[in-house]
Amino acid sequence: MNHLFDWHVLDDSVWAAHIAAALRHYRAGKTWTPAAPSRSLALLFFNPSLRTRTSMELAGAQLGAHVTTITPGQGTWGFAWEDGKVMDGTEAEHIREAVGVLSRYYDALGVRVFASGTDYAQDRDETLMRAILDAATVPVVNLESAFYHPCQALGDASTLMTHFDGAAKGKKFVLTWTYHPKALPMAVPNSALLMAARLGMQVTVARPDGYGLDPGVMDQAQHYAARHGLTVEESTDQAAAFDDADVIYAKAWGGPLIYQDPDAEAARRQDFKDWRVTSELMARTNEAAFMHCLPVRRGVVVDDAVLDGPQAIHLLQAEFRLHAQKAILEHVWDLNPREEERVSGRLSASLFAPAHAEDGA
Ligand code: CP
Repeated sequence: MNHLFDWHVLDDSVWAAHIAAALRHYRAGKTWTPAAPSRSLALLFFNPSLRTRTSMELAGAQLGAHVTTITPGQGTWGFAWEDGKVMDGTEAEHIREAVGVLSRYYDALGVRVFASGTDYAQDRDETLMRAILDAATVPVVNLESAFYHPCQALGDASTLMTHFDGAAKGKKFVLTWTYHPKALPMAVPNSALLMAARLGMQVTVARPDGYGLDPGVMDQAQHYAARHGLTVEESTDQAAAFDDADVIYAKAWGGPLIYQDPDAEAARRQDFKDWRVTSELMARTNEAAFMHCLPVRRGVVVDDAVLDGPQAIHLLQAEFRLHAQKAILEHVWDLNPREEERVSGRLSASLFAPAHAEDGA
C-alpha cells in the first residue's frame, strides 16, 4: 500500500517525483482534473487545522474524489487507543474498529494526530500513527503526526524549488526557533529540517540552549546533508545565523525539555521572548525569503513588517499545500504518471546528485 507516513522512509525517486508532480499542479493552477472520480477519502482530524483540512478536502475534490472529514469526538464515538484496554470508561469504540470500518468504506484515509507532549518515547516512536497504519487496509496519508508533517514538507520543498527556479541546492536555509506562549510540537521543524537538507541546502538550526531537535532526526538530516558534501550547523546566536541567509524558516517548538520538566521549560522559554523575526534581523540576510507553515502569531513569532513585506512567501507556501496534496493523492491511488515525472524536468536529475564526485551516493 502507498502509505505516506514520512518521506524519509521513501526513496529519493519518490520524493523527486512528488516535487515534480506538485509543480505540475502549481503550473496548472486551480484546475479540476477528475482523475479519481470513483475514489473516496476520509480525513480524521484529532487536532485542529485550517490549511491541511481545507487543502486536503479541495485536493480530493479537484481530483474528482468524494471526501468526508471527521473530527473524532464531535459527532463520533470517543476512541480508545491502547491495545488490551478494558473499555469500561468513556471511550465507546477502539481505534482498531474505527479505522477498520473506514478502510472498508473509503479508498484512503488522512489522519492528523499530534504529539502527546508528555511521553517522548511514544511520540518519537509514532505510537498513535503506527496504530492507525496497523489497523488500516487502505493507504494512509499522515496529515501531521508526533514527529513528521510530510504534506507540509512537500509543499515547502516545492515552494523553494519555485522560488529559486529549481536551484535551491546550496542556498543557505536557516530554521530559526522563535518564542511562542505555548510549547509547540516538533513535527514541522523536524520536517522542514529534513526537507531542506535533502534538497542540498546549507542548513543552520538557530535555537536557544535546550531547544535542540531530536538526535535521531538531526542524524537523518546530517545524512542528507553529507550526500551533498554539507553539514547541518546549529547555533544559539540567532542574529549571526541570519547573516547571508537565503531562506528564513521560522518555527516555535517546545523541544525535548517539555517532556522532562514542563514547568521548567515554560519558565525557561520566557528568557527567549526576543527570539522573534524582525526587519532588523532580515536585513542581515541575503534578501532571504521568509517562510512559516502557519498559523503564525504576529508580533510574537514575527513582526508585521516582515510578514507584510516583499520577502515573505508564506502564502505561496500555503498555496503549495494544495498542489502537494494533489500529488500525494495521485501517489496513494497510483494515478501519478511517476515514470514520466521522473524524467520530466531538471528536478529528478539534479536534486540528488552529489555536490562532489567523492561524496558518493
Ligand atoms: N501548516 C498547517 O499544517 O496548518 P494547519 O494546522 O492549519 O493545517
